[in-house]
This record gives sequence, C-alpha cells and structure tokens, in this order.
Amino acid sequence: MPNRTTSSSLDYISLGMPAPEQRQAINSSRNLHVNFIGNSRAMREISSTVELVAVSDAGVLITGESGTGKDVVARLIHLKSPRADLPFIALNCAAVPREILENELFGHETGAFSSAPARKSGYLEMANHGTLFLDELTEMDNETQAKLLRVIETKSFRRLGGKEEISVDVRILASTSLRVTEALQSGELRRDLSYRFSAIEITLPPLRERIEEIPLLVDYFLLLFTRKYKRPPKSFSAPAMKALMNYAWPGNIRELKNVVERAVLQCTDGIVGIEHLPMEISKANSPGPHITIPMGTALSLAEKEIILQTLHSVENNKSKAAGILGLSRKALYNKLHKFGNGITEVPDSSSLLPVSLLQRNKGTITS
Ligand SMILES: Nc1ncnc2c1ncn2[C@@H]1O[C@H](COP(=O)(O)OP(=O)(O)OP(=O)(O)O)[C@@H](O)[C@H]1O
Ligand SMILES: [Mg+2]
Repeated sequence: MPNRTTSSSLDYISLGMPAPEQRQAINSSRNLHVNFIGNSRAMREISSTVELVAVSDAGVLITGESGTGKDVVARLIHLKSPRADLPFIALNCAAVPREILENELFGHETGAFSSAPARKSGYLEMANHGTLFLDELTEMDNETQAKLLRVIETKSFRRLGGKEEISVDVRILASTSLRVTEALQSGELRRDLSYRFSAIEITLPPLRERIEEIPLLVDYFLLLFTRKYKRPPKSFSAPAMKALMNYAWPGNIRELKNVVERAVLQCTDGIVGIEHLPMEISKANSPGPHITIPMGTALSLAEKEIILQTLHSVENNKSKAAGILGLSRKALYNKLHKFGNGITEVPDSSSLLPVSLLQRNKGTITS
C-alpha cells in the first residue's frame, strides 16, 4: 500500500519498499520496489491514470524521454494491480540483440537450433500470471512484433522449434522513448500492435516541463543519498536550487538524481552550493547575455524577440530553446509558425543587443 499519498496531491508513493523516512519494513513483492515522487498537475494525473489502469489487464504503453520514469511507472502499475504478488518480468528490447530477442521472449525446445541442447523457457513463461514489461518495444523488429501481437490476441504461443501451443496469462506493459506517431511513421512500431496499446498511453513529461517538482525530488534524493553514504543531512543553497531550476535537464530525473548523488559526495558541510554542481548546471545560473526590450514594446513582439534571441543563443537547437523557455517543442514550433512565413533564419549576432524589433531582418526557422 502507498505510504503517503492523497488523491488530490500525489507527493510520495512508495511500494514494496519503505519510504526513506520510515524505518518499518514493508513486505516486498519479490524484491520489487518503487518510489514515485511528484506533485505537479501532470504527475497527479498520471498517478490517477495508474490507479485506474492497474486494476485491468489492458496493455499500457508508457512513453517519455529517457530518464523521465517509464520504468518507475511500469513497476507502479504492477504493484498496484491484482498481480502484485506475482512475477514482474522486464525485458529490455534495446539491450538484447535482435536475433536473440525471440529466443528470450518465447524460449526454445531442445535442439531448436544447434546451440540449443536443452529446453529453455522464455520471458513470456516466466511472467505467466504476472506482468511482462517490454522496455523499448520499438527496438523489437517488425516480425517479432507481429508474433507478439498474436500472443496478445490468442493468449498462447509456441517455443522456438516447438509444436505445442502454450497458454499464457500475462499482462503486457511496454515503453518507448520515441513519440508514437513518429515510431508509426518510421515503421519502428507496427500499427496493428499499436492498437493493442493505444487505449492507454501514459506520457511522462520531461523534467523541464515540471520544474516545480525539482525541490521535492531534490529533498527525496538528498534523503536517499545522505542515508546511503551515511552523511549528515544537507540542503541546497538558494542559488544552487535556482541553478537546478534554470537548467534544461536533457537526462531528466535520472540526471537530477546523479547530480544530487554527486553533490552529497562532494559537499562536506550541510549546504550544497553552486560549487558542488556540474559546470553545465552552474553555468545556467551565471549572468548570461541579456535581452533588452524597449518600454512600450507590445507583449506579442516582446515574446517573439525572447523566442528568437533564445534560439540564437543555442544555435537554433529547438529542444534546448524549448527547455530554456519552459515550452514543449510542439508549443515552440506553433509559436514559430505563428510568427509567419517571412521568418527564414534565427537572428544573426549583429541584431542582438539592444533589441529593436522594427529593425529586425525577417527570417524563417528551418530545422
Ligand atoms: N517520479 C519519480 N520519483 C522518484 N524517482 C524517479 C521518478 N522518476 C524517475 N525516477 C528515478 O529516475 C531514474 C530514471 O527513471 P527510469 O529508469 O524509470 O526512467 P526511464 O524513463 O525508464 O529511462 P530510460 O528511457 O532511459 O529507460 C531512476 O533511478 C528512477 O528511480
Ligand atoms: Mg527505462
């Protein structure tokens, strides 16, 4: 059961393992544990969706950039499901060579191929009655995806080299760090298989779109690592926290966790300062170039200026610019589109400070 959570504000869910602030052991489900932290609106919605889908046997596709918590959500769904005491088996499709993946999934009969002296059970059998988590599903080749679809539809499969139809009762969860529409277009995800997951897709937002959660996550990771390394309690100084909030977090929560771990190891007193942070993050707080916008500039023009100057400062890298501006990539594209056809390039440095919107040469953003 969750240690502390309310329906209106998810802060902390810990399943299968005690929360750091609790000493009392909680019986673990086959050593599976999950700590799910969040207090943003998006994470509260995800938590409610998890509650809803956990009780069913429906397939769930969990998407999101690397490090956003897809594994965490898959474990949470399993631990909240009626299958919680049964196996949770994760197969990382990116970590297994494609030629071996089918063997891992379906197992094989004795003599199925020259190097198969003994019968071997696959992940599907291991997960029987429990949950199979196919991590990075889009790394599975097309043919294997077709075979997986058949398993989902018939609830049975054959081991490689086998004739016997083996029944399985497995709940399948899958993840990908690709966008589903792009994966469908590129053929990395079969459309027919995607229908099996399309009813329930959980998309984890990147950390840069939920920076309000950073202090909560930092507190949690501080507690985790000060305990792990037996260090005295610590907190982040205001400038260090500000630097964390100003950074774009391309590696998402995994990166934040590593940064806090490193800070705990480097900081010998109780306050983590800017100097304990990696360069790319401490830089985020140093006074950088300014944008000067004359008084009387219309808000829409000021917005345009900020967006174009930011793009310029990151050499037209849309993901970085979106991160700095606190926008999704899509929202940034929409705004650029709105600025009109006349825009062909981000501004060159000659039009940087001071800003005069009226003098700007128009350009279009190309990539
Ligand atoms: N909401 C969260 N609360 C607490 N810890 C989290 C949360 N989300 C992610 N983490 C931690 O961040 C790290 C990365 O999470 P996870 O492995 O689930 O990400 P992922 O999306 O599966 O990444 P990848 O695409 O690289 O596989 C893990 O150590 C995980 O425990
Ligand atoms: Mg993962």
